[in-house]
Amino acid sequence: MRKIKLSIVVILGLVLPLVSCGNIESTGNAPQWKSYSGDPVIERKVDSVLNLMTLEEKIGQMNQYSGNFAVTGEVAETKAGEYLKKGMIGSTFNTFGADHIRMLQEQNLKYSRLKIPMLFAADVIHGLETTFPIPLAEACSWDLELMEQSARIAAEEATASGIAWNFAPMIDIARDPRWGRVMEGAGEDPYLGSLVARARVKGFQGIETYKDFSKINTMMATSKHFVGYGAAQAGRDYHSVDMSVRTLHETYLPPFKAAVDEGVTSFMTAFNDLNGVPCTGNKYLFKEILRDQWGFGGMVVTDYTAIQEMVAHGFARDIKHATELAIDAGIDMDMISEGFVTCLKELVEEGKVSEKQIDVAVSRILEMKFLLGLFDDPFKYCDAERQKKTVMNPEYLKAAREVAQRSIVLLENKNNVLPLEKDEPKRVALIGPFVKERESLNGEWAIKGDRSKSVTLMEGLQEKYRDSQVKFSYAQGTSLPVIDRTTQKVSTTTVPDRSGFPEAINLARNSDVILVAMGEKYHWSGEAASRTDITLPGNQRELLKELKKTGKPIILVLFNGRPLDLSWEAENMDAIVEAWYPGTMAGHAVADVLSGDYNPSAKLVMTFPRNVGQIPIFYNVKNTGRPFDENNPADYRSSYIDSPNSPVYPFGYGLSYTSFEYTNAMISSKKLERGGDLTVSVDVTNTGNMDGEEVVQLYIHDKVGSVVRPVKELKGFKKIHLKKGETKAVEFTIDEEMLKMYNIDMEWVAEPGEFEAWIGASSADESNHLEFSLVE
Ligand code: BGC
Repeated sequence: MRKIKLSIVVILGLVLPLVSCGNIESTGNAPQWKSYSGDPVIERKVDSVLNLMTLEEKIGQMNQYSGNFAVTGEVAETKAGEYLKKGMIGSTFNTFGADHIRMLQEQNLKYSRLKIPMLFAADVIHGLETTFPIPLAEACSWDLELMEQSARIAAEEATASGIAWNFAPMIDIARDPRWGRVMEGAGEDPYLGSLVARARVKGFQGIETYKDFSKINTMMATSKHFVGYGAAQAGRDYHSVDMSVRTLHETYLPPFKAAVDEGVTSFMTAFNDLNGVPCTGNKYLFKEILRDQWGFGGMVVTDYTAIQEMVAHGFARDIKHATELAIDAGIDMDMISEGFVTCLKELVEEGKVSEKQIDVAVSRILEMKFLLGLFDDPFKYCDAERQKKTVMNPEYLKAAREVAQRSIVLLENKNNVLPLEKDEPKRVALIGPFVKERESLNGEWAIKGDRSKSVTLMEGLQEKYRDSQVKFSYAQGTSLPVIDRTTQKVSTTTVPDRSGFPEAINLARNSDVILVAMGEKYHWSGEAASRTDITLPGNQRELLKELKKTGKPIILVLFNGRPLDLSWEAENMDAIVEAWYPGTMAGHAVADVLSGDYNPSAKLVMTFPRNVGQIPIFYNVKNTGRPFDENNPADYRSSYIDSPNSPVYPFGYGLSYTSFEYTNAMISSKKLERGGDLTVSVDVTNTGNMDGEEVVQLYIHDKVGSVVRPVKELKGFKKIHLKKGETKAVEFTIDEEMLKMYNIDMEWVAEPGEFEAWIGASSADESNHLEFSLVE
């Protein structure tokens, strides 16, 4: 029999029963669970608490209840109060504020028998109050340290506001811009997606080892949504996902494995079914892959009502059946469905679920509460003073501005219409619904970001060009259409008309340059915001066409959450700046870029198609037996009769105000031995007139495989800074590991044979071509 001493918890001046036991006796009947920490001391602590719990209390820990039971005073009359009294809320979410959360925790400790602290979670997707650019935008920086830093700041603010568990990062690979949730991820590529997943997990969790969780500013991260959510059929949110096991392993699983390798503490299920089995009841995913193959020791939470939804899927007869399927799949915590709290006890009594299964789930939950230090101090994250000092402090706002600058992609810049130099006299017509738009700038997921505090483009420009030679005049021209969710059409009361066109056109005629700010209202992307048409909404393109007739150069600045169909804009606009939703410092960051105070360096992480007919579209496709032949387009080749195969803008593409030349591509050897390595290199020269940064990308193609390999795959990149006129040699090491793939038998191996490599400025840049072979 082991004896463990738990640390003393003093709450509201009471010494709680949990601790008043002082030395708690463990029965030694520890459930068979693999802990996250692997630390026997923590495992014994968990075991000790478990031994004090009734079955009902254990089930209560597995219940994640909505945070909206925000009441002061007596809560016992409410449903939440009833649960609290029985110790049946293990966690709650999306409720904020040090004082508020302190109050909820006090209620929990006051009412529940064992006084196990509640765990407060939230969706802190791209910043808490200091809002950073949407994750898709941030990923376009290709700057992993930057993404880690923005996640770290988010964690600093969140942990000062009562939150210890983040429902981020969202690491779903996404190749369908119709899907509104592309804005939350890192785009289409599994290699880049994996690195971004690691950076974000590292930033949120801020730990080297699990022991660091005792720090005040560390929080649990969640890898979501496991898995395949980004491949929703036809881009419609929550839709079925049907994919081969190969595609699952090659494309959709790698970021999740990377998160596990980085020490992520929790996983969230996906809403979709994967090949007929809803992810929330999917043993293959959670038992076989996550637990058995990857050895994940953290906890798994469902997505919102996902247990209940297995009934609508047609996978479970009723909530009780769904509960059984979920626990059987290895789910630890039920978000909102209340399947666990209402059905689990009965399922145990009927012998359909064993108490051991429940003990395992509860152990994982308790372990996290121990690691976070909540048993030592349930109010650890509730320091109102710290919240005041931390949230939106000037240092964080500065970082948000820098991250936003680095997330903005320059898509077009014909005749160097940009930058708009401050000392060149110019009359600029400022036109479009996004010039003064404030509400959308944080994007859809910034639930705690105060939208009224975001800096508009107008404000950013006014500050930037104050006392300059550039003079702005404004006409809105048109407005953003609003969707009426009940009819799934643009609302008839807000349909934009052309009445603002004449004023805007007139203004444009009397200006030297037209600066147009357009885009999508923020809730046109995000959850449940799929589109079938991805052009600029409403009559924005129509207005652009009218402005084009003035013959004046047009700079188009876009604010949106997904790749858009810019086929017409790409041809007709002089400059296009993809600003995405840049967050709190939006207007300043865009003005930094437009003025040239920051030279843009971001590159796309998702392909921009020409039309929806090309979707899904991504760079690392497989070849067909009849590849398109430019010299013989009319032949029976894999192509469309009404559209080129190529996108408007490919993955990895983005311009700078300077130009870069790639020369002197070299390879150290034509042969790579197993276990050995070789280097490929290129000289990159800044041939323009400004200092700048370039993302140099390495792509590899395995020419012949036991299964067909993609035409190219990103295998490395470096972001370099070059002064004007400067040249740097950029080198990549290629080893056997980088050439590995799932062979015909689904073994992870490198197959000997011929390979080709490109080092270039985008996935479409094939000018620096090298060849080598892997030999036995
Ligand atoms: C989303 C999750 C999110 C959860 C809690 C769900 O609708 O799919 O990503 O974490 O809500 O807010």
